[in-house]
Amino acid sequence: MKITSREVLADSQGVSIVKLVIQSPAIAAKAKAGQFVVLMVKEEGERIPLTIVEADPGKGTVTLIVQEAGLTTKLLAGAKAGDSLYSIVGPLGHPTVIKNYGKAILVGGGVGIAEIYPVAKALKGAGNHVTVIIGSRAKGLLILERELKAAADDCIVMTDDGSYGRKGFVTEALKELLERSKYGLVYAVGPIPMMKAVSGVTRPFGVFTLASLNALMVDGTGMCGCCRVSVGGKVKFSCVDGPEFDAGQVDWQELSSRNSIYNEKEKHICRLRNAG
Ligand SMILES: Cc1cc2nc3c(=O)[nH]c(=O)nc-3n(C[C@H](O)[C@H](O)[C@H](O)COP(=O)(O)OP(=O)(O)OC[C@H]3O[C@@H](n4cnc5c(N)ncnc54)[C@H](O)[C@@H]3O)c2cc1C
Ligand code: FES
Repeated sequence: MKITSREVLADSQGVSIVKLVIQSPAIAAKAKAGQFVVLMVKEEGERIPLTIVEADPGKGTVTLIVQEAGLTTKLLAGAKAGDSLYSIVGPLGHPTVIKNYGKAILVGGGVGIAEIYPVAKALKGAGNHVTVIIGSRAKGLLILERELKAAADDCIVMTDDGSYGRKGFVTEALKELLERSKYGLVYAVGPIPMMKAVSGVTRPFGVFTLASLNALMVDGTGMCGCCRVSVGGKVKFSCVDGPEFDAGQVDWQELSSRNSIYNEKEKHICRLRNAG
């Protein structure tokens, strides 16, 4: 599990996003769009889920894009080419159902842009007309614009502060597109408030909308219950039943409060580590 390359994609406003290519032939041979890995940076560390952004079975590598959030993602983003990870398990989760939906809109917010990239390529390969809407807080935080412009038919860029592309949220561009034409699929990945807002925008249009959920995960195998989400009133485990679910059926409020359960403890751990 050697890291073969590392590239900083964004480092601005206290946010750092890094691309890592990792030697993992078994995962590279099987990975499909929409799936993820669970990895450990060190033996004494925690397990975190990350989307498989690209897999190259020929080279036996998988590409991950990681945004520093807390201790583990900081350790990972700080690793160098040549370093080895303690463990990596995958591919996990159901692959995205790739078929011809006709016209599809993929909405990516922040590091969620990394997660729509493999899905955009796969949907395009299945003959869909693919429009991507990508958004970030500011220009310096936008990732994969060039790659998505090459992969999709249309690419709309939004920034919250108007420093690049159009000023505003991704949902504004989404609403305009839905008012103008019929789409078979809307697919969203990003912060929970963004995915919730996307499902609110698409509901009146009756468009099938999938969201790839970022529930907290531990084992990634359906045993620990950490990634529990309520979808359509039923309990689902995001790792084995997802990570994609019908966005209109997700209990966003519950997901949001479950994901913030460890906020205070995590801040404490970070302070201890920084002090050490
Ligand atoms: C299926 C899946 C795929 C993912 N893919 C990617 C990816 O490709 N790139 C990427 O950068 N991140 C991805 N994530 C999110 C990533 O797993 C978390 O950011 C990471 O676990 C944070 O760990 P940490 O120890 O660095 O931060 P922590 O110290 O655990 O958390 C720091 C802050 O981030 C919040 N946080 C922690 N975990 C999550 C989470 N899963 N979702 C939302 N907020 C969280 C905490 O509430 C806290 O506020 C994915 C999550 C899932 C479930
Ligand atoms: S992460 Fe443990 S059940 Fe899903």
